[in-house]
Amino acid sequence: MINKAIYPGTFDPFTNGHLDVLERAVNIFDRVDVVMAENSQKHTLFSVEERMTMIREVVSVFPNVGVDVLHDGLLADYARSAGAKVIVRGVRQVKDFEYELQMSLLNRHLYPEVTTVFLMPNVKYTYVASSIIREVAMLGGDVSKFVHPYVLEMLSKKREGRKGRI
Ligand code: PNS
Repeated sequence: MINKAIYPGTFDPFTNGHLDVLERAVNIFDRVDVVMAENSQKHTLFSVEERMTMIREVVSVFPNVGVDVLHDGLLADYARSAGAKVIVRGVRQVKDFEYELQMSLLNRHLYPEVTTVFLMPNVKYTYVASSIIREVAMLGGDVSKFVHPYVLEMLSKKREGRKGRI
């Protein structure tokens, strides 16, 4: 039996913190699918296609990692139909935990066979969040230590296109 997990998120953009969590998941599970939520409730800097492209590029080094999109609907339904019984989420700080606990228990209510596993990234990513990376990058700050070179290039192209607007 394949021990499969899904790693969902908005990934706007995919950061080295996400990559760190993914690497840890890859060491535990036989297969991990990164599931990028289209997330109509959040205004994203990168389109679905752009986020898919960047994630595919960054995770291409892992033979057992797939990439998919959750266009709409519930993550619990996605997990059920994908045959995944494990959801991986990264937790950086205690303040992340309240929301994550709420989501994990709701997902368990919706799909009782699913278990959420929390993984802690390296402490150097404690303060790395996509929102702050977006803000700093769009204002011209150096975020090269926090994202893959391909993502850095996409951020810089986006900045040129947006002329400094966040
Ligand atoms: O990277 P994020 O924005 O913290 O990821 C949040 C995400 C995408 C995992 C969450 O919003 C989600 O699961 N969305 C899908 C819709 C859903 O199932 N919502 C109910 C969650 S209990």
